Amino acid sequence: MSGPDGKPARVGIVGLGYVGLPLAVAFAEEGHEIVGVDTDARLVAAIEAGESHIEDVPSERLRAVAARISATTDYARLSDCDAVLIAVPTPLTRNREPDLGPLLSAGTELGSVLHAGQLVVLESTTYPGTTRERLVPLLEESGLAAGRDFNVAFSPERVDPGRTDHTLRTTPKIVGGLTPDCLDRAVALYELVCDHIVPVSAPEPAELAKLLENVFRSVNIALVNELAMLCDRMGIDIWEVVDAAATKPYGFMRFDPGPGMGGHCLPVDPFYLSWRAREYGQPTEFVELAGEVNQRMPEFCVARIARALNDQAKPVRGSRVAIFGVSYQAGVGDLRESPALRIAHMLADQGAVLAYHDDYVPELPELDLTAESVDVVLDGADVAVIVTAHRGLDVEAIVRSAPLVVDFRGVTRGIEANNLVRL
Ligand SMILES: NC(=O)c1ccc[n+]([C@@H]2O[C@H](COP(=O)([O-])OP(=O)(O)OC[C@H]3O[C@@H](n4cnc5c(N)ncnc54)[C@H](O)[C@@H]3O)[C@@H](O)[C@H]2O)c1
Repeated sequence: MSGPDGKPARVGIVGLGYVGLPLAVAFAEEGHEIVGVDTDARLVAAIEAGESHIEDVPSERLRAVAARISATTDYARLSDCDAVLIAVPTPLTRNREPDLGPLLSAGTELGSVLHAGQLVVLESTTYPGTTRERLVPLLEESGLAAGRDFNVAFSPERVDPGRTDHTLRTTPKIVGGLTPDCLDRAVALYELVCDHIVPVSAPEPAELAKLLENVFRSVNIALVNELAMLCDRMGIDIWEVVDAAATKPYGFMRFDPGPGMGGHCLPVDPFYLSWRAREYGQPTEFVELAGEVNQRMPEFCVARIARALNDQAKPVRGSRVAIFGVSYQAGVGDLRESPALRIAHMLADQGAVLAYHDDYVPELPELDLTAESVDVVLDGADVAVIVTAHRGLDVEAIVRSAPLVVDFRGVTRGIEANNLVRL
């Protein structure tokens, strides 16, 4: 899809976070004009100044296309866009039910500026039916009819922050349109930035495909985490088990154990599915059980740290704990649902004295901590705990310097030392 007369397309992007900003830059790098709308005025000002807050988009890359990206808090600026992509958060309420607040607010705002001929695509992860039942009615408040006066589609985002081997261009993009015309327009749009488009028959299969992908990971991570807890009891090395099983050339896919799931997706999305499933009287037991097992991991980790300290005749209370990596995964500074935070809070509640090292997270205000250098956190530490291993972490040096090391990521495999405990 291009703009009128084959000119570059004018693409609006609502929500300039981990999903929206990389999308904006990808379209801009292909020569298209971007209007990015975000409710966070500070973020908008930073993007306008060429400052990126997303690790996958270094500021230099943003600045290189600055002339084609304009960020604003004003939805009215979307009125002359050919297409508008929505990438706002879809979090959970306190009761762990879908919170469509940001999405409904974006839909209402967009409905008030929508013009005939525009294409609207929802990219936020959500339960099947959201695009048709929740977004379309808000857009139709404009007086225009979806499928006739404007087009609507759902296309889930598959970005994995920090990953470099698969990009927006090389990762197949699923698209489901409200009508065949909606699909054609959305496919034409994404062909500008993606090599391979996967059309499906409607928005609902596209919405559910994204949830299937994330539930699949959640279930498999829960399975290997459950085995890790069993291995701990049985005195078997879970990493050796996974390494061995992963040699099977078919019928097995490797998942590694860890301290629990974090980020905006895996701990959240399964609840969108199970909530929707309740409406149909169909229990999603696998989905919920996986969430429960993964939620238990941080507690298991704290118990494992306490046991390791105990073996050295030290209580948790008063022990100095050096935490390595507090973001939810390597290579990003995203703290959302990070198991490291739960581990840190539980240790603090038990009286441990905490310090942490994380190149991506300068401070943890809720724990009143600021990041320290490796040397400073290790100085006087009773135990070093590797929760998230960012690239470049010198684990050998940590094992050499700390009296005790607990590794929840398996990055010390290959090192034999008496002071080393692995998940
Ligand atoms: N982060 C990921 O790895 C990832 C991967 C795939 C899919 N997703 C999904 O994509 C969606 C966005 O996630 P994200 O990680 O980019 O979130 P994010 O929090 O990084 O970014 C969302 C942005 O939307 C803005 N926003 C909130 N309400 C708004 C509104 N009403 N109007 C305009 N802007 C608004 C926020 O200020 C924020 O900057 C979610 O549904 C998420 O599940 C995320």
